[in-house]
Amino acid sequence: MKIRILGAAAGGGFPQWNCNCRNCRGIRDGTLRARARTQSSIAVNGADPNDWALVNASPDILAQLQANPVLQPARGARDTAIAAVLLVDGQVDHTTGLYMLRESVRPLPLWCTDQVYADLTQGNPVLRVLGHFCGVQRQALVADGREFAVDGVAGVRWRALAVAGRPAPYSPHRDAPQPGDNIALVIRDAASGASALYAPGLGAIEEPLWQVMQQADCVLVDGTFWSDDEMISLGLSKKRGSDIGHLAQSGAGGMLEWLERLQARTRRILVHVNNTNPILDEGSPQRAALDARGVEVAWDGMEIAL
Ligand code: MLT
Ligand code: MN
Ligand code: ZN
Repeated sequence: MKIRILGAAAGGGFPQWNCNCRNCRGIRDGTLRARARTQSSIAVNGADPNDWALVNASPDILAQLQANPVLQPARGARDTAIAAVLLVDGQVDHTTGLYMLRESVRPLPLWCTDQVYADLTQGNPVLRVLGHFCGVQRQALVADGREFAVDGVAGVRWRALAVAGRPAPYSPHRDAPQPGDNIALVIRDAASGASALYAPGLGAIEEPLWQVMQQADCVLVDGTFWSDDEMISLGLSKKRGSDIGHLAQSGAGGMLEWLERLQARTRRILVHVNNTNPILDEGSPQRAALDARGVEVAWDGMEIAL
């Protein structure tokens, strides 16, 4: 099984179009040692090299497809290696790319929870708009931890778990999150049994998720913010990371403490990294702290073989 990181940044990407934080300014003017990153998405491949699941449809999907020619096998006049799309939430950075897939020659197989389906047909009715183009063949993702297969992506088994987080601002229950607004996916190679946990949005690490994290060979987890007050201290927002459903890396109870408690063999990778996060600066002390702990920062094009 292969997991390809198509986009390693959080919403806004890196650099963000209107941002002049130290990171965004530094990468633009060449003074920062860092890679640009597009918005959050991965692709997963199992037994057949031409069949991939797209997990999250980023606003940057067209650039991501160009950067990853493996996703265009060119078997016919119109073709794609994307056999299905799965969504971990209904946020803009994970769903806007659906518009770019409207030329699909068949209804897009789309896996999402009932909560996400409601948001994407009501508050942000992208699926209703797509109905005027290719349409979707919706598959209910049930966040009950039970294993399922995705048609068209052989050799991979999936499990969905409800995780702590916040639904998108256009959700009617933005301030009262429901199970299914945000999920984590356990992605397992059916042949080898090796598994990865993918959770780009995690407001907290609750017991069921922690059990799964300890069993995974690789964890790809929320890397949005280094500190909970990151956006506030930079004067960019009034919201803390925890207000918008993201557990920061540093501090008591932060992501690094959790990752440190995993077995030594577990590969630890931060995904969905916000452009303000100092770990993007490869010369920063925060990045050195990750290196010392064996924690990796995902980059666009990174591939994980399991
Ligand atoms: C999030 O991860 O909290 C959202 O994607 C933020 C956004 O809308 O950019
Ligand atoms: Mn996001
Ligand atoms: Zn920035």
